[in-house]
Amino acid sequence: MPRFDLIATSTFGLENVVARELQQLGYADCRVSDGRVCFTGDEADIARCNLWLRSADRVLIRVGEFPAPDFGALFDQTTALPWADLLPVDAKFPVKGRSVRSRLHAVPKVQGVTKKAIVESLKKKHNRFRFDESGAEYVIEVSLLKDIATLTLDTTGDGLHKRGYRQVVGAAPLRETMAAGLIQLSYWNSDRPLIDPFCGSGTIPIEAALIGQNIAPGLQRSFAAEDWRWFDRAIWKNVRIEARDVRKRDLPAPIMAYDHDPGAIRHSRRCATDAGVGGSIRFNCQEVSELKTPLEYGCIVTNPPYGERLGDNEEVEAVYRVMGHSFASLETWGVYVLSAYRGFENHFGRRASRRRKLYNGRLECQYYQYPGPRPPFAQAGAEHRDAADKPLANKPSTAPSPEAPPSPFGTFVADCSTAAEATTIDLNRFEGLTERRGNVE
Ligand SMILES: C[S@@+](CC[C@H](N)C(=O)[O-])C[C@H]1O[C@@H](n2cnc3c(N)ncnc32)[C@H](O)[C@@H]1O
Repeated sequence: MPRFDLIATSTFGLENVVARELQQLGYADCRVSDGRVCFTGDEADIARCNLWLRSADRVLIRVGEFPAPDFGALFDQTTALPWADLLPVDAKFPVKGRSVRSRLHAVPKVQGVTKKAIVESLKKKHNRFRFDESGAEYVIEVSLLKDIATLTLDTTGDGLHKRGYRQVVGAAPLRETMAAGLIQLSYWNSDRPLIDPFCGSGTIPIEAALIGQNIAPGLQRSFAAEDWRWFDRAIWKNVRIEARDVRKRDLPAPIMAYDHDPGAIRHSRRCATDAGVGGSIRFNCQEVSELKTPLEYGCIVTNPPYGERLGDNEEVEAVYRVMGHSFASLETWGVYVLSAYRGFENHFGRRASRRRKLYNGRLECQYYQYPGPRPPFAQAGAEHRDAADKPLANKPSTAPSPEAPPSPFGTFVADCSTAAEATTIDLNRFEGLTERRGNVE
């Protein structure tokens, strides 16, 4: 089976979480940089990663990467890539484009030249002059960063956040991939109770239940590469069978989803049922002021209202103050809050011991982390979740963490070799970049 250079893309700030997930799936050769984790694999790896990655956006095949200071270089180098091995005669191959800090900044032209170069390459290899593009879709992206062109083929199709359980979108839903990232950045594991007191459409509790029950997040959906002629269909069938086999029926500790909006509770209940975890989550319609539990050493992971509109601030500040009072009695609990509101800590009444910049869509947020005391039942190695927050090269490990969902694929490979500088995610640098995007059909 041929091997491919693969890229798992992610939102900025979650790259190390994705690398950690890849490591748990058995991929040792991860290299982390802004918005992507590179590794290698074959067809079966493409299928597994699409099925299992929780925080990544897409799995791409890197077809080529080269300096492209001008259109001549872009055309020649693109033509030389092995497109005929990947695109059958009837392939439909739209070309998406983006350009960041590059001389070739006219994205539509970049896309046009790339498409023309691919057609030239296919003409030679397939011995044809015309391509009707009537078959399955193979989406190509040409991405220019500082004059380096990366050409990729998207194996995923709809982004990986589309798990298939949320048919109707709620008022201000969190992406499923972000919710999974927040959980994996916390110290929660399935032995600890979890509460989301502002659950909205239930994304955080549902993703926690999927993690706790070792359910592959992509089990209910299909992927672009499933329609590709050269991709062995039996592989997809097998990875799904494997995934069903490793699924756990129960959770050792409860997961609770609360919201004061009855419509949100109805909606989240329906989503949880569609995700196959309806029986694992306790729902209740209640105000955050009513939050009480006799349980200890749980985690609150939540995404309260931010107040994006003018005039919302007072309301949101009042909610944060109520949160501060309600959570104060949960002395043994860890608290993790994603908010875009800059004054969150002032109104909540406590400084976070850690903060992390994350983007909810285009909205800059902080993830405020109050890990709380270590549970007395915590097993040795519980610190491993912290590793998702740090360069992996600093965190070598030789055995699967007891907290990690078991790898469904047998062998656990411990370390991801990462260049230290590549794992430093400089979001300020990202914010300053001018990015242009476009599509060519
Ligand atoms: C940003 S949304 C949460 C979105 C959620 N993470 C999702 O993925 O759909 C905030 C939620 O908090 C709820 N909410 C606002 N104020 C509340 C309060 N005082 N008590 C309980 N829920 C509240 C809203 O009804 C809304 O569903």
